[in-house]
Amino acid sequence: MSAVSIDYSERIPNNVDLSSDRTLQRALEHWQPGFLDWWGDMGPDGSHNFDVYLRTAVSVDPQGWAQFGHVKMPDYRWGIFLNPKEEGRKVNFGEHKGEEAWQEVPGEHRANLRRIIVTQGDTEPASVEQQRHLGLTAPSLYDLRNLFQVNVEEGRHLWAMVYLLHRYFGRDGREEADALLERRSGDQDHPRILGAFNEKTPDWLSFYMFTYFTDRDGKFQLCALAESGFDPLARTTKFMLTEEAHHMFVGESGVSRVIQRTVDVMNQLKTDDVAKLRAAGVIDLPTLQRYLNFHFSVTIDLFGADESSNAAIFYNSGLKGRFEETKRDDDHRLQTASYKVLQELDGKLAEKEVPMLNALNEVLRDDYIKDSESGVGRWNRVIEKAGIPFRLKTPHKAFNRRIGALSGVRVAPDGRVVSEAEWLANVNDWLPSAEDRAYVASLMGRVTEPGKFANWIAPPVMGINKQPVNFEYVRFN
Ligand SMILES: [Fe+2]
Ligand SMILES: [Fe+2]
Repeated sequence: MSAVSIDYSERIPNNVDLSSDRTLQRALEHWQPGFLDWWGDMGPDGSHNFDVYLRTAVSVDPQGWAQFGHVKMPDYRWGIFLNPKEEGRKVNFGEHKGEEAWQEVPGEHRANLRRIIVTQGDTEPASVEQQRHLGLTAPSLYDLRNLFQVNVEEGRHLWAMVYLLHRYFGRDGREEADALLERRSGDQDHPRILGAFNEKTPDWLSFYMFTYFTDRDGKFQLCALAESGFDPLARTTKFMLTEEAHHMFVGESGVSRVIQRTVDVMNQLKTDDVAKLRAAGVIDLPTLQRYLNFHFSVTIDLFGADESSNAAIFYNSGLKGRFEETKRDDDHRLQTASYKVLQELDGKLAEKEVPMLNALNEVLRDDYIKDSESGVGRWNRVIEKAGIPFRLKTPHKAFNRRIGALSGVRVAPDGRVVSEAEWLANVNDWLPSAEDRAYVASLMGRVTEPGKFANWIAPPVMGINKQPVNFEYVRFN
């Protein structure tokens, strides 16, 4: 068996030579039925007998890791896949910079490392729970298949984090792994850890926005963890990133197709009148902008408080780096560096210079914002090509915040600090109103004929894995 290929003869497919550690193997085989029960209860609603055209990892080799075929999701081969070890890898930042990367958990950083892994791990099943009803209203078989692909891969990401907990954290790791199957998205008593993962994903526009914006948060968190001095975490998150790319593609292309359909109808009817467009059954651009504002603002909260001593500790101790840490041209210790964060001062937003170590959440948030803006630019090209003067825009980063120094401040999408009265007078223009959500919900209805698409979304340019767009991506049986 080569270092990158995956052993599928095992009950738990893996490339970590699991069978050589019987205790660990038994512990994970003990966790496995609980996972399958969770999938049965909280995985995609009513889908267990469907044959879904899914990709499964067969190797972590970038050239040939995916194999496609129709499978029933409960039979999906969830497993443990790490990128190969890089010989001579070092801790690349913080106070341990230059030491050998750790193959075992350093005792002094154990609690923080466990917390990082649990927080990441909790988001994975949470998103599956958030999306579990969407299959009932999929706009096409193509989209249904993409939803299910995202869902099974989030399930695999949970496996990735659970492996680390079982392998490296002993008894408390096993307890944390069990708790990951016990919390529930949006549950009053046992909610998921992070706010955005307790929000509902009630319709497909929300799903595309979520996979564009919130899975991209996943990308940035994983990139920061891929720099970790704890080598098993770096190796596992590197492989997770290859899966994450498809999730963001689903989001970007999904929103793009919604826009395409809307601008086509705008041109056919020669109107930008919201009532007329809604009567024609498409999603008007101002509503798209409000959904964008919501998902963007909720997602950037996930990066945490702008000033955070935890962020400083995680970095300093070599646990969590910056995005593209090793490509940066500085001392990778940051003891004397500073960074600008925002605060409210006399009714205006003002910059404040703080030690960079304490501002690393903000650094990652700003990198994320840059990355998400580029896709919004591509959406605007669809509108521009149609000859329509409307442009989508990410709101100011202080807009609608619930976390950090800006959480108590009312800020308009353009960055003006506003009064509570002005906020209330405009909030339905800035965030999806109950009426917007009801309208979008009214469009949702399952389309099951191969090659057919709901009226509110354009077909994709290409199918999956070079299959035609009208391929039978899901068989209901
Ligand atoms: Fe994930
Ligand atoms: Fe994802």
